Amino acid sequence: MTSEPPLPMPPDGLTFGEVSLYFDRLVPADLVQGFAPYYHFRILNPDGWDAGHVNLRVGDTDHINLYAGHIGYSVHELYRGFGYARQGCLAAAPFIRTIYPSVIITTDPDNAASLRTIEKLGAVFLEEIPVPPHDPQYRGGSRRKRRFRWVP
Ligand SMILES: CC(C)(COP(=O)(O)OP(=O)(O)OC[C@H]1O[C@@H](n2cnc3c(N)ncnc32)[C@H](O)[C@@H]1OP(=O)(O)O)[C@@H](O)C(=O)NCCC(=O)NCCS
Repeated sequence: MTSEPPLPMPPDGLTFGEVSLYFDRLVPADLVQGFAPYYHFRILNPDGWDAGHVNLRVGDTDHINLYAGHIGYSVHELYRGFGYARQGCLAAAPFIRTIYPSVIITTDPDNAASLRTIEKLGAVFLEEIPVPPHDPQYRGGSRRKRRFRWVP
Protein backbone atom coordinates (compact mmCIF):
# COMPACT_ATOMS: atom_id res chain seq x y z
CA MET A 1 0.00 0.00 0.00
CA THR A 2 1.36 3.46 -0.88
CA SER A 3 0.60 6.57 1.08
CA GLU A 4 0.53 10.14 -0.21
CA PRO A 5 3.47 12.35 0.82
CA PRO A 6 2.47 14.92 3.44
CA LEU A 7 1.32 18.24 2.06
CA PRO A 8 3.79 21.12 2.54
CA MET A 9 3.12 23.95 4.97
CA PRO A 10 2.87 27.41 3.37
CA PRO A 11 5.58 29.94 4.16
CA ASP A 12 4.94 33.13 6.09
CA GLY A 13 4.98 36.42 4.27
CA LEU A 14 2.70 35.70 1.31
CA THR A 15 1.76 39.18 0.13
CA PHE A 16 0.78 40.95 -3.06
CA GLY A 17 -0.18 44.55 -3.64
CA GLU A 18 -2.33 45.70 -0.73
CA VAL A 19 -3.07 42.30 0.79
CA SER A 20 -1.28 39.74 2.87
CA LEU A 21 -2.37 36.19 3.50
CA TYR A 22 -2.82 34.57 6.87
CA PHE A 23 -2.61 30.77 6.67
CA ASP A 24 -5.58 29.66 8.76
CA ARG A 25 -5.63 25.90 8.35
CA LEU A 26 -5.11 22.86 6.17
CA VAL A 27 -8.42 21.04 6.10
CA PRO A 28 -7.92 17.30 5.71
CA ALA A 29 -9.67 15.25 3.04
CA ASP A 30 -13.25 14.29 3.79
CA LEU A 31 -13.28 10.67 2.69
CA VAL A 32 -17.01 10.25 3.34
CA GLN A 33 -17.99 13.19 1.12
CA GLY A 34 -15.13 12.54 -1.28
CA PHE A 35 -13.64 16.03 -0.79
CA ALA A 36 -9.94 16.69 -1.25
CA PRO A 37 -7.85 18.51 1.36
CA TYR A 38 -7.59 22.25 1.06
CA TYR A 39 -5.55 25.15 2.38
CA HIS A 40 -7.56 28.02 3.82
CA PHE A 41 -5.98 31.48 3.76
CA ARG A 42 -7.55 34.64 5.12
CA ILE A 43 -7.05 37.76 2.99
CA LEU A 44 -5.94 40.64 5.21
CA ASN A 45 -6.37 44.20 3.98
CA PRO A 46 -3.70 46.89 4.54
CA ASP A 47 -5.15 47.58 8.02
CA GLY A 48 -4.88 43.89 8.90
CA TRP A 49 -8.63 43.30 8.80
CA ASP A 50 -10.04 40.00 7.56
CA ALA A 51 -11.37 40.86 4.10
CA GLY A 52 -12.14 37.37 2.79
CA HIS A 53 -10.43 34.14 1.90
CA VAL A 54 -8.60 32.13 -0.70
CA ASN A 55 -8.78 28.33 -0.70
CA LEU A 56 -6.40 26.02 -2.52
CA ARG A 57 -7.83 22.56 -3.09
CA VAL A 58 -5.35 19.78 -3.64
CA GLY A 59 -6.73 16.92 -5.65
CA ASP A 60 -7.43 15.49 -9.05
CA THR A 61 -11.12 14.62 -8.83
CA ASP A 62 -13.77 15.50 -11.42
CA HIS A 63 -15.36 17.71 -8.78
CA ILE A 64 -12.21 19.83 -8.61
CA ASN A 65 -11.04 19.64 -12.22
CA LEU A 66 -14.43 20.27 -13.79
CA TYR A 67 -16.67 22.14 -11.38
CA ALA A 68 -15.09 23.53 -8.20
CA GLY A 69 -11.60 24.30 -9.46
CA HIS A 70 -8.42 24.25 -7.41
CA ILE A 71 -8.87 27.85 -6.27
CA GLY A 72 -11.80 29.36 -4.44
CA TYR A 73 -12.12 32.91 -3.18
CA SER A 74 -14.58 35.23 -1.56
CA VAL A 75 -14.37 38.82 -0.32
CA HIS A 76 -16.67 40.19 2.38
CA GLU A 77 -19.12 42.67 0.88
CA LEU A 78 -17.67 45.55 2.89
CA TYR A 79 -14.27 45.03 1.29
CA ARG A 80 -15.29 44.43 -2.32
CA GLY A 81 -14.21 46.76 -5.08
CA PHE A 82 -10.48 46.72 -4.37
CA GLY A 83 -9.51 43.64 -6.36
CA TYR A 84 -8.62 41.75 -3.20
CA ALA A 85 -9.59 38.36 -4.67
CA ARG A 86 -7.10 38.79 -7.51
CA GLN A 87 -4.43 40.08 -5.13
CA GLY A 88 -5.11 37.18 -2.76
CA CYS A 89 -4.59 34.70 -5.59
CA LEU A 90 -1.37 36.44 -6.61
CA ALA A 91 -0.15 36.44 -3.00
CA ALA A 92 -0.75 32.69 -2.86
CA ALA A 93 0.87 32.12 -6.26
CA PRO A 94 4.44 31.36 -5.06
CA PHE A 95 3.10 28.68 -2.75
CA ILE A 96 0.66 27.28 -5.32
CA ARG A 97 3.58 26.91 -7.75
CA THR A 98 5.29 24.54 -5.30
CA ILE A 99 2.33 22.17 -5.70
CA TYR A 100 0.97 22.74 -9.23
CA PRO A 101 2.51 24.28 -12.36
CA SER A 102 -1.02 25.28 -13.33
CA VAL A 103 -4.44 25.12 -11.72
CA ILE A 104 -8.08 25.15 -12.75
CA ILE A 105 -10.26 28.10 -11.74
CA THR A 106 -13.97 27.94 -12.41
CA THR A 107 -16.83 30.36 -12.13
CA ASP A 108 -20.52 30.57 -12.85
CA PRO A 109 -20.95 32.39 -16.17
CA ASP A 110 -23.11 35.11 -14.58
CA ASN A 111 -20.58 36.00 -11.88
CA ALA A 112 -19.18 39.15 -13.46
CA ALA A 113 -16.80 40.03 -10.61
CA SER A 114 -15.32 36.55 -10.58
CA LEU A 115 -15.03 36.46 -14.38
CA ARG A 116 -13.19 39.77 -14.35
CA THR A 117 -10.94 38.57 -11.51
CA ILE A 118 -10.03 35.49 -13.53
CA GLU A 119 -9.51 37.53 -16.68
CA LYS A 120 -7.19 39.94 -14.85
CA LEU A 121 -5.21 37.00 -13.46
CA GLY A 122 -4.47 36.12 -17.07
CA ALA A 123 -6.09 32.70 -16.86
CA VAL A 124 -6.92 31.01 -20.16
CA PHE A 125 -10.52 30.07 -20.97
CA LEU A 126 -10.96 26.36 -21.60
CA GLU A 127 -14.68 25.68 -21.89
CA GLU A 128 -18.15 26.16 -20.47
CA ILE A 129 -19.87 23.01 -19.23
CA PRO A 130 -23.11 22.01 -17.48
CA VAL A 131 -22.91 21.07 -13.80
CA PRO A 132 -24.42 17.61 -13.22
CA PRO A 133 -26.96 17.18 -10.40
CA HIS A 134 -24.65 14.85 -8.48
CA ASP A 135 -21.96 17.51 -8.04
CA PRO A 136 -22.06 19.56 -4.81
CA GLN A 137 -21.80 22.75 -6.89
CA TYR A 138 -25.24 21.91 -8.32
CA ARG A 139 -26.69 21.75 -4.82
CA GLY A 140 -25.13 25.17 -4.28
CA GLY A 141 -27.16 26.51 -7.20
CA SER A 142 -24.61 26.36 -10.02
CA ARG A 143 -25.92 25.04 -13.32
CA ARG A 144 -23.00 25.89 -15.62
CA LYS A 145 -19.31 26.51 -15.05
CA ARG A 146 -16.67 28.26 -17.09
CA ARG A 147 -13.31 26.59 -16.70
CA PHE A 148 -9.99 28.42 -16.95
CA ARG A 149 -6.37 27.35 -16.60
CA TRP A 150 -4.16 29.64 -14.54
CA VAL A 151 -0.39 29.48 -14.38
CA PRO A 152 0.29 30.94 -10.91
C1 LIG B 1 -15.82 37.48 -6.76
C2 LIG B 1 -15.34 38.35 -5.59
C3 LIG B 1 -14.44 37.54 -4.69
C4 LIG B 1 -14.57 39.54 -6.16
O1 LIG B 1 -14.30 40.44 -5.10
P1 LIG B 1 -13.24 41.62 -5.30
O2 LIG B 1 -11.86 41.07 -5.34
O3 LIG B 1 -13.54 42.64 -4.28
O4 LIG B 1 -13.57 42.10 -6.76
P2 LIG B 1 -13.90 43.62 -7.24
O5 LIG B 1 -15.20 44.07 -6.68
O6 LIG B 1 -12.70 44.45 -6.97
O7 LIG B 1 -14.12 43.39 -8.79
C5 LIG B 1 -13.13 42.78 -9.61
C6 LIG B 1 -13.34 43.24 -11.03
O8 LIG B 1 -14.65 42.87 -11.44
C7 LIG B 1 -15.37 44.02 -11.84
N1 LIG B 1 -16.76 43.85 -11.45
C8 LIG B 1 -17.22 43.71 -10.18
N2 LIG B 1 -18.56 43.57 -10.21
C9 LIG B 1 -18.93 43.65 -11.51
C10 LIG B 1 -20.18 43.58 -12.18
N3 LIG B 1 -21.33 43.38 -11.52
N4 LIG B 1 -20.19 43.68 -13.53
C11 LIG B 1 -19.05 43.83 -14.21
N5 LIG B 1 -17.82 43.90 -13.63
C12 LIG B 1 -17.78 43.82 -12.29
C13 LIG B 1 -14.72 45.16 -11.13
O9 LIG B 1 -14.97 46.40 -11.80
C14 LIG B 1 -13.27 44.75 -11.19
O10 LIG B 1 -12.74 44.97 -12.47
P3 LIG B 1 -11.70 46.18 -12.74
O11 LIG B 1 -10.52 45.89 -11.86
O12 LIG B 1 -11.39 46.08 -14.20
O13 LIG B 1 -12.41 47.43 -12.33
C15 LIG B 1 -16.55 38.88 -4.78
O14 LIG B 1 -17.45 39.50 -5.66
C16 LIG B 1 -17.25 37.80 -3.97
O15 LIG B 1 -16.84 37.46 -2.87
N6 LIG B 1 -18.32 37.23 -4.53
C17 LIG B 1 -19.04 36.15 -3.82
C18 LIG B 1 -18.23 34.89 -3.78
C19 LIG B 1 -17.85 34.42 -5.18
O16 LIG B 1 -18.60 34.61 -6.13
N7 LIG B 1 -16.67 33.83 -5.27
C20 LIG B 1 -16.17 33.33 -6.52
C21 LIG B 1 -16.65 31.96 -6.78
S1 LIG B 1 -16.00 31.40 -8.32
